[in-house]
Amino acid sequence: MPTPHISAQPGDFAPAVLMPGDPKRAQRMAEAILDDAHPVTDVRGALGFTGRLAAPGPGQGQLLSIMGSGMGMASMGIYATELFRFYGVERIVRVGTAGGISPKLEVGHLVVAVGAHTPSSMNESRLPGVHFSASADLTMAAAAWALAQTESEPVWAGSVVSTDHFYFSVPGQLAALENHGVLAVEMETAALYGVAAEFDRAALSVLTVSDHLTKSGREMSAAERETHFQGALRLAVAAAFA
Ligand code: HPA
Repeated sequence: MPTPHISAQPGDFAPAVLMPGDPKRAQRMAEAILDDAHPVTDVRGALGFTGRLAAPGPGQGQLLSIMGSGMGMASMGIYATELFRFYGVERIVRVGTAGGISPKLEVGHLVVAVGAHTPSSMNESRLPGVHFSASADLTMAAAAWALAQTESEPVWAGSVVSTDHFYFSVPGQLAALENHGVLAVEMETAALYGVAAEFDRAALSVLTVSDHLTKSGREMSAAERETHFQGALRLAVAAAFA
């Protein structure tokens, strides 16, 4: 039965779902890597597709779904919950962008988010009296990390921070995050890992650094975003079929 936010029927989603933030990017990814990609949901423009993986390698010919998560933890939390709870999804791989915090990172580098800090209350409310550790699935992270060794762009594995605000930052917070080795900032991963823990399912975020917050430099052009997200997509597919 369709859910309040997903119009698909049971069985329409593959066991693994890749989730970029942008629904249009979900469509482009589906056209790029799936055979027979067909739409399975379009509620509120959060487009979702299922098809068979075209590329040679692990997972070739197997069903894979790709759906936009929207921006922010509230949006990701809704879709991840409904995919796990109502559609039997086993694995979700976020394929998104992040702002660099660590000076080691450059625009275009990739990040495998092993853990996600957050100032949000979404995970704090899960374990009374305990600070939840939002962690990636190790099998999926290991598969992405193994393939990362063959990529031309540097790939980093470590923690990110998932914030609620894009345009507001708490004074001093960025420096503290940098001092604690946090690689990058984005807005969805902590919620995804929290929901995965709730349902005992697997999740991973693979992020492309699209801008840098502590180093001056350029942001990615639209064309660069397209090429660079293909690296993240390769790692995400490896994780989906690990
Ligand atoms: N902040 C939050 N999310 C982001 C950023 C950022 O700078 N860049 C890409 N996603």
